[in-house]
Amino acid sequence: MNLGKLGQALSAREIFDLIQDDLEQVEKKITTESVASVDAVTAIGQYLQSAGGKRLRPALLLLSARLCGEAGSTAIQLGAVVEMIHAATLVHDDVIDAAQTRRGRASTNVKWGNHTCVLAGDWLYMQAFQIALRERNFQFLDLLIGLTQMMVEGELLQLEHIGHIDISEADCMELVDRKTACLFSVCARLGALASRADPQTHEKLGEYAWNLGMAFQLVDDVLDFTAREKVLGKPVGGDLREGKVTLPLVYALERATPAERRMVETILRQRTYDEVPFARILSLLEKYRGIERVKERAQAFTDKARRLINEFPESPYQRALLTVTDLVTDRDH
Ligand code: IPE
Ligand code: IPE
Ligand code: MG
Ligand code: MG
Repeated sequence: MNLGKLGQALSAREIFDLIQDDLEQVEKKITTESVASVDAVTAIGQYLQSAGGKRLRPALLLLSARLCGEAGSTAIQLGAVVEMIHAATLVHDDVIDAAQTRRGRASTNVKWGNHTCVLAGDWLYMQAFQIALRERNFQFLDLLIGLTQMMVEGELLQLEHIGHIDISEADCMELVDRKTACLFSVCARLGALASRADPQTHEKLGEYAWNLGMAFQLVDDVLDFTAREKVLGKPVGGDLREGKVTLPLVYALERATPAERRMVETILRQRTYDEVPFARILSLLEKYRGIERVKERAQAFTDKARRLINEFPESPYQRALLTVTDLVTDRDH
């Protein structure tokens, strides 16, 4: 990120410093709330928590809460809730995708097996809801349950597309929304609600975070092709190998020759890069500007997010939320 150019922008470190104490409390909360009466469940929770992860969702919630007022105990509890829901989706997602790596380590399905991970994911979801329930606020539960259904439906819709070359741009966008943007939006909304913001503020912050989430997932789809595995913490080229045609490839396929299409179909069928090397896919994306076009789409979402957050009065939290938009588009993992 070019900080000089942005003048007042904060660094990633400065953003996290603003909410460091809150985030530490969120971590403590997650640790104490992840203890189950069955050891494997506790171990899976701890394994994921200690493996790292950007903690973007609680950070977004806490910054939104502070933008609207104080980040009191409710915001801390909800910060733990959203990270635990995120962890549950990752545990289930890695089972569905038969993933090998997550956060730079063997994924939980590899270590504990699918059966245990399905149940541990369920437990994590329920524990997250239980923490939210203690706040005795139906609005929180309404948002969280609706969100979880949106995300689960997204995973189901994605399953329907697995292995198929013909997925539309609109279908891709819907998956991006369900997979990531809706959770980002709920994080900001919960933050605003925790600080008793008025409905208009709550709405505007939710829209900001939705746009941010769309950009984040589009960048994720790009990184799946362009990143280095060591930095990303999961294998590069994984989406296509898992049978997923994401937006960069959709754009390239719009212009591809029949022979180039067949090349992609071969990978979708074989689920390896043995016959068609990954480099051929990268050339295809380069030839038809697939990556560039998705980066442009991501930029349009971050521009929208910036416009929305610029409507708030200036404060360190407002500037932090503004800077987050750059961090999302310029990230390498
Ligand atoms: C991973 O999210 C799942 C997606 C939505 C792509 P993150 O990239 O935020 O994962 P962690 O929490 O930092 O590991
Ligand atoms: C991310 O989906 C998991 C959810 C948000 C449900 P993906 O399968 O596309 O992401 P990674 O690549 O495993 O993180
Ligand atoms: Mg996955
Ligand atoms: Mg998946």
